[in-house]
Amino acid sequence: MIRRMMLITGGAGFIGSHLTEELLNEGHKAVVLDNFSNGKMENIQHLLGNPSLTLVKEDLKKPRKLGQIVKASDTIFHLAANPEVKIGETDPKTHFEENILATFNLLEAIRKNGKPKTLVFASTSTVYGEAKLVPTREDYAPLIPISTYGASKLACEALITSYAYTFNHRALILRLANIIGPRSNHGVIVDFIKKIRANPRELTILGDGNQEKSYMYISDCIEAITHLTETFSKSTEKVDLFNVGSNDKVTVAQIAKTVSEEMNTPNIEYKFTGGVDGGRGWKGDVKIMQLSIDKLVKTGWKPSNSSKQAVKLAARALIQENASH
Ligand SMILES: NC(=O)c1ccc[n+]([C@@H]2O[C@H](COP(=O)([O-])OP(=O)(O)OC[C@H]3O[C@@H](n4cnc5c(N)ncnc54)[C@H](O)[C@@H]3O)[C@@H](O)[C@H]2O)c1
Repeated sequence: MIRRMMLITGGAGFIGSHLTEELLNEGHKAVVLDNFSNGKMENIQHLLGNPSLTLVKEDLKKPRKLGQIVKASDTIFHLAANPEVKIGETDPKTHFEENILATFNLLEAIRKNGKPKTLVFASTSTVYGEAKLVPTREDYAPLIPISTYGASKLACEALITSYAYTFNHRALILRLANIIGPRSNHGVIVDFIKKIRANPRELTILGDGNQEKSYMYISDCIEAITHLTETFSKSTEKVDLFNVGSNDKVTVAQIAKTVSEEMNTPNIEYKFTGGVDGGRGWKGDVKIMQLSIDKLVKTGWKPSNSSKQAVKLAARALIQENASH
């Protein structure tokens, strides 16, 4: 294996901290760049003694040291973003700044700082919007995001591919399904755990409970990212794009049942808010999402867990994690 210098933007966040851990385990050197807006020191505390890890506190919206960091990196995993779909309804500017502007600044630093790089970008299923074909393939069109989050990520994809062709670097775009597991601090499972802790008799569920989506356990996600990065490093494609998810989907009502069983409150009463726009949890919430992972599976890798197993594993881990806080 070739030891590479890896830059992980958003490396103190949920997915970024797990990815950093794996890259260090594989023997690479890693620079974690994070502004700690949502990332936490405790996510990477256990890695800080590793001499192959460098931590840089930096905001991609106003970068100061980014140029020299980029110059020293071989592969850049760009995960820094604001991933909260819900905030688009009240604060769309955040998605513009944290996602589009931050990505533009990173691309400019790459352009101005030398040797061609590989950029691996954490995109999202929400770029597809309300796809008419589910499971949805990478070549599905037209892409009509229904949230400012999905729109911002689609804009990032376009900037990244255009920079790759114009300035001669390579880009791997990964459209992730819902990723769940320890260290995650947002999303439906975290929300249910907090609510059941506050009131073990009643659980308010946003929407009609029939929202049905695909979930992937964090260890599968990290394996997929490193596997696809390795595969891409051996290919001649300038730009490649993969869906990353599991082979099934679960409803929000099923997630509520799993979380309440894991919290020993199986008889809790569910209250559905009914939601907006035909049962969505919030404006911009895609009701049905499952990514086709045929292209990923053809590369010789498949996830170990289904969505249902992922929900159970993540609920267990997060209940334990929350109990120790
Ligand atoms: N978790 C999911 O289900 C999911 C699904 C699809 C795509 N993604 C994408 O994967 C990436 C990681 O998501 P996550 O769930 O780990 O979120 P996260 O919030 O835990 O991680 C994002 C990290 O980026 C950092 N960050 C944000 N703005 C920054 C800035 N301007 N400069 C430097 N650092 C900044 C945050 O502090 C945080 O540590 C995001 O790009 C997200 O959009 C996540």
